[in-house]
Amino acid sequence: MATAILCNNWSDLDTMQIPEELKSYFKQKAGSEVSSISYQGSFGILYAECISGESNSTNLEKWRKAGNKITGSCNQLKEIALDIQNAGISAAQALAFAEGAVLGNYKFDKYVKDKTSKANTLKDFNLSGDGSDGLKDLKLLCEAVYKTRDLVNEPVNQLNAEQLSEKFTAMGKESGFSVEVWNKSKIESQKMGGILAVNAGSQQPPTFNIMEYKPAHAKNEKPIVLVGKGVVFDTGGLSLKPTPQSMDQMKCDMAGSAAVAGIMYAVAKSALPLWMIALVPATDNRPGENATCPGDIITMYDGTTVEVLNTDAEGRLVLADALAFAKKYEPELVMDFATLTGAAMRALGAYGSALMGNADEAIKNEIKEAGDKVYERLAELPLWEEYFEDTKGEISDLKNLGKSEGGAQSAAMFLRYFTDYPWLHFDIAGTAFLTGNDAYRPKGGTGVGVRLIFEFLKQRANGQ
Ligand code: BES
Ligand code: MN
Ligand code: ZN
Repeated sequence: MATAILCNNWSDLDTMQIPEELKSYFKQKAGSEVSSISYQGSFGILYAECISGESNSTNLEKWRKAGNKITGSCNQLKEIALDIQNAGISAAQALAFAEGAVLGNYKFDKYVKDKTSKANTLKDFNLSGDGSDGLKDLKLLCEAVYKTRDLVNEPVNQLNAEQLSEKFTAMGKESGFSVEVWNKSKIESQKMGGILAVNAGSQQPPTFNIMEYKPAHAKNEKPIVLVGKGVVFDTGGLSLKPTPQSMDQMKCDMAGSAAVAGIMYAVAKSALPLWMIALVPATDNRPGENATCPGDIITMYDGTTVEVLNTDAEGRLVLADALAFAKKYEPELVMDFATLTGAAMRALGAYGSALMGNADEAIKNEIKEAGDKVYERLAELPLWEEYFEDTKGEISDLKNLGKSEGGAQSAAMFLRYFTDYPWLHFDIAGTAFLTGNDAYRPKGGTGVGVRLIFEFLKQRANGQ
């Protein structure tokens, strides 16, 4: 058994029900430059963490990272349960610690044969004291993040568009949202030319997925619509990507779709009183013999013509069809999530996602605040009209390639053309998939977007 005692002042330990001997051990070690002390005895690990300060964004992140650290020690010592005792910090801080502990315990090991030596042993988390009543909801949210990470981490030979749809259907069944899956002939009959053009070089059919959660007690009269990029693998198509540090990471190109499914799962499981719809255009992008050629002019779902100058700018093509389709819902707000541009990744690194859109300032501020709170930070990039000039067509209405400078913005301006409602666009190219561990975000899919949007929706459901 492992126990973690949390305080923001070492003297808080006095109040704890632990042996005097241990109290004096901790007292002796404690100091201003020390934040954590651990003691390993026959009973397991006893660990004390002391981080002073108010529950602001940076302080909460320190607690998450501390939670991740103890999870690491627990697994090294083959502990199976972690008992967290709040000895005087705020509920938010204790829950942040628990969140870091649970999220850091994620491991994608379903394809590892030798599970006994490599698997995490830690299974069970408890929390007592302030914050304990929030543990159940926290675990549920972390489960949604785990599911999102799992989807991102599955390679395309295990998860093509149709298999992705099956996963959505299973998530819907488990949590209580409906899933309608359109096959290729339905997509053809709907003339979703963007999705079909990206799918043209593939051996496997695309799908279009409509998920819906509409509780009787919904507070919104018009739905909130989520759209997720579901490119199950992006080779670049005929504009082929190089392998190292590029194509080798492109199983992550459906991370936007995994995030929206994870959000729907969390919303439905916790029965938030919100009417939600999620749309996912899913396909791989490959250079097969019928592949779309650079220079091809295609007709989108809404009749717009697009000159495809680079088949690697495929995300905007599949998203545009979904965004145009979303108009029929007369939505209150549309939010799309996409690993859309290397430009967004170069601008912000893995430290935050790019936010763009035409929703009003109040909504943008709400979402940025939610981002700071859960530490899935957002940096807004401007949608200046000049970026739209870059993506206007010469022999067609639009072209799918802007300038390489400001590439995240011209991609967003391409998308904006297909909207007629309040809209936010999240470019998660830099944040959705990590090539190394970052504290409680292990290498691979991060699940970015789930905690962010759930926090935002929770506030909205509370009428704020
Ligand atoms: N899926 C990529 C973007 C990406 C890059 C995601 C790195 C995750 C990590 C997207 O489809 C793409 O290839 N974008 C191109 C667009 C360009 C050709 C206009 C890019 O950003 O290089
Ligand atoms: Mn691409
Ligand atoms: Zn892509």
